[in-house]
Amino acid sequence: MLWAECGIQSLLLIERLTLVCFVFQGVTEVLCEACEQLGWKEPTKIQKEALPVGLEGRDIIGLAETGSGKTGAFAIPILQALLENPQRLFALVLTPTRELAFQISEQFEALGSSIGVKSAVIVGGIDMMSQSLALAKKPHIVIATPGRLIDHLENTKGFNLRAIKYLVMDEADRILNMDFETEVDKILKVIPRDRKTYLFSATMTKKVQKLQRVALKDPVKCAVSTKYQTVEKLQQYYVFIPSKFKDCYLVYILNELAGNSFIIFCSTCNNTQRTALLLRNLGFTAIPLHGQMNQHKRLGALNKFKAKNRSILLATDVASRGLDIPHVDVVINFDIPTHSKDYIHRVGRTARAGRSGKSVTFVTQYDVELFQRIEHLIGKKLPAFQTEEDEVMVLAERVTEAQRFARMQLRELGDKRKRPHEEVEDDSEQSLGIRNKVSGGRMRRKGR
Ligand SMILES: Nc1ncnc2c1ncn2[C@@H]1O[C@H](COP(=O)(O)OP(=O)(O)OP(=O)(O)O)[C@@H](O)[C@H]1O
Ligand SMILES: [Mg+2]
Repeated sequence: MLWAECGIQSLLLIERLTLVCFVFQGVTEVLCEACEQLGWKEPTKIQKEALPVGLEGRDIIGLAETGSGKTGAFAIPILQALLENPQRLFALVLTPTRELAFQISEQFEALGSSIGVKSAVIVGGIDMMSQSLALAKKPHIVIATPGRLIDHLENTKGFNLRAIKYLVMDEADRILNMDFETEVDKILKVIPRDRKTYLFSATMTKKVQKLQRVALKDPVKCAVSTKYQTVEKLQQYYVFIPSKFKDCYLVYILNELAGNSFIIFCSTCNNTQRTALLLRNLGFTAIPLHGQMNQHKRLGALNKFKAKNRSILLATDVASRGLDIPHVDVVINFDIPTHSKDYIHRVGRTARAGRSGKSVTFVTQYDVELFQRIEHLIGKKLPAFQTEEDEVMVLAERVTEAQRFARMQLRELGDKRKRPHEEVEDDSEQSLGIRNKVSGGRMRRKGR
């Protein structure tokens, strides 16, 4: 009831001047009810910090750990402002990845369901025409990846963002990174300077120049953590292993932690696909998600994993930021991230919203320096994940066989891609059958 009582409580408690009475002040009843319906009993720390500032109409730089409810922290003040001054094309939210855009849209629609909020997702890999139609209906909130938004701003007749009141950059440090520089500059030129701006992330750029580009007006920094923190309930480990035995160790760890749900990060699309095939050949229910898959397959893969039809999601950094899948128990960095900040986001796919989780980072003879940088960034030394070398090596023969099949399957996929008229099965679900050829299927150690 705390959300709903916020206004009333603040009046009753005003004498005591508790922090609580002020932070709850101001969120309207209908939005409080929406929060309650989502099972949110009280605001999270970042929401307590950011909501009053947002409701006051100030710009925000919001910095808080992964899974701490930053989406709600920026969505609630926007929805409340929208309620007070209803207007179409009211807010623009920029995100670095397509899947995250869909997720943010779902959150806006869930929080705004009783007030009839309409949002449109404008991302690459999807037919422009259907998006143009969605934009023609003038949604309240546009959630977009920068490149596709530019396409529409330049080519879709009648669409502009000249009246928007709010700009949000979720994963702001990523959006303000060089990769998106041209697009973001173009977008900033065609939206009003007189607007509210929110930047949110679990890691923020310290470069003032980058922030100045966004033309924040006297922003309030709402920072729940002072340094780059990983979540308290996350148990983080590393394994130091020879590069050539990575696959064996992966299979060993998946067997050790059997029954859990995993996200495994790889550095390239090719290795993501290869590792998914390898694991499938050994009988694991694994599915890949990477940038070389078409958008339909990407969303399909994510949905299968979300629905628990697959227990292992193999992904590139396309899945490292923002995705909220509560049932993820373990994150494995099969390839170590080259940018240390990505580590924080990757491991943040587990242990969200107060839950616990595990992460294991593979460190080979080539990765020592990168690993030390990660430990330096998060300010702690990680313990080693205990492994039994003899037991790992028992797996070698079958893993080698599965690797051989995976290479063949990859070659077949490559050939199909060269013949574009044929439908390419990006996730190669049909190759499941091959596991019968790899003796034993899913591997368990003897005596288990
Ligand atoms: N007040 C609340 N009470 C309980 N759960 C909440 C509350 N606010 C948000 N959540 C839930 O917490 C989870 C994480 O929220 P969210 O995705 O916004 O985190 P985040 O801080 O943006 O993380 P990331 O840095 O990974 O993007 C979601 O499942 C969301 O529904
Ligand atoms: Mg987020």
